[in-house]
Amino acid sequence: MSLQRLLGAALLCYGVIAGPSGAAAPDTLVQNSAPRKLHGRFLHITDIHPDEFYKVHSSTDEDSGCHKGEGPAGPYGAEASDCDSPFALVNATFDWIEANLKDKIDFIVWTGDSARHDRDDDLPRSQDQVLGTNRWIADKFAQLFQDPKGKGLSIPIVPTFGNNDILPHNILLPGPNKWLQTYTHIWRHFIPEEQRHGFEFGGWFNVEVIPNKLAVFSLNTLYFFDRNAGVDGCADPAEVGYKQMEWLRIQLEIMRSRGMKAIIMGHVPPARTDSKKLWDETCWQKYTLWMRQFRDVVVSGLFGHMNIDHFLIHDTKDIDIAAVSGLTSDFGTREAMDDELTIQAGTDYLLELRDDWSKLKKPPVLTDTPGKETNNNRGGRRERDRRRKDPWGERYILSFVGPSIVPTYFPTLRVMEYNISGLENTAVWQDTNKGGKLPALIDQTHDAPQKHLDLRSLSTLDDFADSFEIVETNANKKKDKKKKKKPGKEKKPHDPNLFIPAPPSKTSPPGPAYSLQPLSLTGYTQYYANLTHINNLDLSDLFDVDDDGPTTHSSSFFGQAAYDWLLKWRNGKHGGKKPITPKPNPREFNFEVEYSTFDDKIYKLGDLTVNSFVELAYRIGQTAKRGGSVVAGLSSDEEEEEDWEVVEGLERDDDHDDEDDEFEIEETKKKKGSGGGGGKKKKGGKKHKKKKRNKTWVHFLTHAFVGTLDEEELKKYS
Ligand SMILES: *[C@@H]1O[C@H](CO)[C@@H](O)[C@H](O)[C@H]1NC(C)=O
Ligand SMILES: *[C@@H]1O[C@H](CO)[C@@H](O)[C@H](O)[C@H]1NC(C)=O
Ligand SMILES: *[C@@H]1O[C@H](CO)[C@@H](O)[C@H](O)[C@H]1NC(C)=O
Ligand SMILES: *[C@@H]1O[C@H](CO)[C@@H](O)[C@H](O)[C@H]1NC(C)=O
Repeated sequence: MSLQRLLGAALLCYGVIAGPSGAAAPDTLVQNSAPRKLHGRFLHITDIHPDEFYKVHSSTDEDSGCHKGEGPAGPYGAEASDCDSPFALVNATFDWIEANLKDKIDFIVWTGDSARHDRDDDLPRSQDQVLGTNRWIADKFAQLFQDPKGKGLSIPIVPTFGNNDILPHNILLPGPNKWLQTYTHIWRHFIPEEQRHGFEFGGWFNVEVIPNKLAVFSLNTLYFFDRNAGVDGCADPAEVGYKQMEWLRIQLEIMRSRGMKAIIMGHVPPARTDSKKLWDETCWQKYTLWMRQFRDVVVSGLFGHMNIDHFLIHDTKDIDIAAVSGLTSDFGTREAMDDELTIQAGTDYLLELRDDWSKLKKPPVLTDTPGKETNNNRGGRRERDRRRKDPWGERYILSFVGPSIVPTYFPTLRVMEYNISGLENTAVWQDTNKGGKLPALIDQTHDAPQKHLDLRSLSTLDDFADSFEIVETNANKKKDKKKKKKPGKEKKPHDPNLFIPAPPSKTSPPGPAYSLQPLSLTGYTQYYANLTHINNLDLSDLFDVDDDGPTTHSSSFFGQAAYDWLLKWRNGKHGGKKPITPKPNPREFNFEVEYSTFDDKIYKLGDLTVNSFVELAYRIGQTAKRGGSVVAGLSSDEEEEEDWEVVEGLERDDDHDDEDDEFEIEETKKKKGSGGGGGKKKKGGKKHKKKKRNKTWVHFLTHAFVGTLDEEELKKYS
């Protein structure tokens, strides 16, 4: 380590002496010769969906899908439609990353789906196409982040599979199989060499993005995905989902014993509401249990797939040990969510989330500064905190769902920031992979015959299972020993195959997701590309007003949203229109800040801790209507009267009258004179209060759909 620093210093000296007449800026010198330093920043990018058949000025209608016909498909993509991404958008995105992020980030979390959707019956996807665009994107990353000094990468890049990165989509059988083998090759720059063999079996791996400090765990969520008919949950030891959970458990135990922290990433998020789910219930249960037990280790969970910008708060009280073992069935209570959500389905889903959030209690506000708390907690928790029930919100697990590059709304990406205090001079990741030559870009137009996976020819996971048995036995022994110490404390699980990880030690401080400390996430900036502006289309109606053409298609986007529950396909912001000028005339492509958690006035997130998001979700949840059905909440006027009741009946936490939130008025009304600050606001009319009251929800929806719907349009979903 010190050798490395010495070498760096030597190089720096050399640079100073040999540099061109000392004119070079110090920055350049440091960049070129000193060891890389952490920036406390990383990129989360997801769902790129490049489409080699995208045609500018083609139709965005369902039967054309931006592949043919005449219409408003813009040069950088058709915003708010179900079309995939033109290559120009992918190129522009990488150019933007190169110009704006390349030397400012520590690692990249890339959560999958780098192939087009299988939506055009005339152009069924071939294996070469799916792997071709994946290889193209992987190589773009590898080239952009090639270490100028060495042969490998300058920073670690961590990929994972999306459900569209395989053929047929959603179906991935247990490894080893040729998909996993092929991705071992495509991602050879990214998967640590010693894990390639394991990857071929299961498609999961981890990378120490900051050696001895922080690892990113790439989960193969397709083995948890309810829509993957090739696997069956996480309870049965014969299942690959079970094996992945065991790998995760053992690895997180290792992380804990090494004093390291972990970021979990995957494509399909563990989204689960009262009526819908994305993961098999046994996997969801086990994952939530693992996250609870490893809450001292896990920094956060980052996912993609859903395109909607949102977050998930899982309540560990929903963990049911019988369900972890698959002994109780979730059958019939939750249906698998469509993998592609229309705005309507997406809104129903978000309304359900809001219903869940309406049950949250407002988290306590801790009076000390976070830094002080952490310091004071080095040897355990303070007496005062111990008296509070769950001061850190450790009952909850937080996951972030990052929205997509593919312009389902607007193309968007996220730059996360995390605390590197004390790590300024830590040894950084260095590429040790042997790598090899970058392969040539495959011929995208080559239309290979569709080769289907031979389901029967795949071997089983037997080899892999063997390697696990040893570890399991060890883990079991440890557990038995512990049990003897505290007899009766731990109930023996009914399931002999379930090894519940030990919780954090009683003396350990709360984990990085709960209290600010080194490696805690501190905030993020969401960037988006306003394609309406950039594409700069000059449009006219495709049909005359009195034409008998398909009116739903030629309706405005506003009308389109209303019709979405009938129309599965979304033809975008300009559906039914066509360009006047034959030649595209785009403006300069750019990503701009959509919002940042550091200064968002309505989100008011001081940081990304669980408590901060529970508080935000609580505020959003308070606008939910109780009793009414989710869909009924869409527009009916009668229902508006009802939610007054909810507000009147709110449970208030007496400690926090000083909070400047939108409940101020109602609060003052309820507890006359008890809060000091509430009285300063004038009692507004009912209408005014309502508008104030759901401003957090509307704001959240604006972000969820990446700014493609304005407040007027969103009102329909309030
Ligand atoms: C994208 O960039 C590649 C080079 O990386 C180039 O060959 C290709 O023509 C570009 N495509 C578009 C549509 O700009
Ligand atoms: C980072 O962590 C340190 C040490 O725990 C703390 O003092 C500081 O306030 C944190 N910084 C941020 C921005 O959260
Ligand atoms: C995007 O650009 C269009 C056209 O310039 C503009 O009308 C719209 O308000 C912009 N949307 C956002 C969210 O910035
Ligand atoms: C707030 O919700 C009410 C119905 O509950 C709705 O009428 C109103 O338009 C919403 N306000 C906004 C700004 O969306």
